[in-house]
Amino acid sequence: MKKNIALITGGLGFIGSTLAKTLIKRKIVSNCILLDNFGSFINPLKTNYNDYRQRRIISDKRFIIERGDASNSQIVLNLFKKYKPTLVYHTAALPLAKIENLNATEASIGSIDATKNLIENLNFVRSLTKNYSIKRFVYFSSSMIYGDFKIKNIHENIEANPKEIYGTMKYAGEVITKGLCNYYNIPYTTIRPSAVYGPTDMNQRVSQIFIEKAIKEEKILIQGKDEKLDFTYIKDLVDGVILASLKKNGVNNTFNITNGKGRSLLEFTKILKKYFPKLNYKITSRDNFRPKRGTLSILKASKLLGYKPKYSIEKGIKEYLSYLKEINFY
Ligand SMILES: NC(=O)c1ccc[n+]([C@@H]2O[C@H](COP(=O)([O-])OP(=O)(O)OC[C@H]3O[C@@H](n4cnc5c(N)ncnc54)[C@H](O)[C@@H]3O)[C@@H](O)[C@H]2O)c1
Repeated sequence: MKKNIALITGGLGFIGSTLAKTLIKRKIVSNCILLDNFGSFINPLKTNYNDYRQRRIISDKRFIIERGDASNSQIVLNLFKKYKPTLVYHTAALPLAKIENLNATEASIGSIDATKNLIENLNFVRSLTKNYSIKRFVYFSSSMIYGDFKIKNIHENIEANPKEIYGTMKYAGEVITKGLCNYYNIPYTTIRPSAVYGPTDMNQRVSQIFIEKAIKEEKILIQGKDEKLDFTYIKDLVDGVILASLKKNGVNNTFNITNGKGRSLLEFTKILKKYFPKLNYKITSRDNFRPKRGTLSILKASKLLGYKPKYSIEKGIKEYLSYLKEINFY
């Protein structure tokens, strides 16, 4: 196979590593360069902290792990010179809206500094290198850029209106991606995922917390009786990202890639109760910090890319639990 290389920033992360394994498995690329600063945003001293990173990437010469920060110009310049990746997936960023001591400076490193650094150096190395063509720069944004969902099915043309730090920085990264890629004539795609869940997530998002609490027979606190999220199984997200990054229709476009159906935290809990009948939960008031969310429209991705998610939360939870059983989590 001709060398066809993908650079994945945040390649040891939950999404980045799953994407890398899928690109290799489907023979879309011959190698994946995984640039990662080995960072973590969760307090490792928490009693329920699990580090799944050793399970994410197996030792295999098709995966090349490069330690470093994606905002570091020297590191990124050297990587582009050395590997000349044709696909760049930029997932590296502070990945959560609510964490201890969050501030705009820290949240801007991955979303702003790294985004402009990657695009600038990509353009520079391309200009020096004969026959180096870049197929796509993919920026990972978030549904948090919409702020409160004001309509039933949030589509991509709804104006961004982030209401907290994380969503604001994610949106700034979108603007940088669009502006710089247009200026340098680099084909780009922006992905807006939401509530991604599945094997090896270790960022203590609501799905991981609920599943682990159900297993440990600890009480689940549901913040908001009607609180809905568009829970997206990791495999569906990766399918959508790959379609968006390879299809012509994905060029210079933005896509919601989710399940396309908001489901309540209560529904999620009730599905878990079928597996863990002793599960106990309590409904408390919603956390006003978070934007009011629900369903993201995936009509655009479905029409332009042929994206079709396969995992309802029933199916996703089943597969996630089988994985946890397989690794003797319970
Ligand atoms: N998981 C979700 O539900 C979700 C939803 C919407 C958007 N996203 C976005 O998807 C991306 C990936 O999220 P994830 O869930 O895989 O998170 P993750 O924490 O599992 O992965 C992020 C990885 O990036 C690395 N990293 C962070 N900053 C870096 C930097 N400056 N340089 C190099 N490496 C860096 C971390 O070490 C980590 O391995 C993020 O940009 C996040 O904002 C995720």
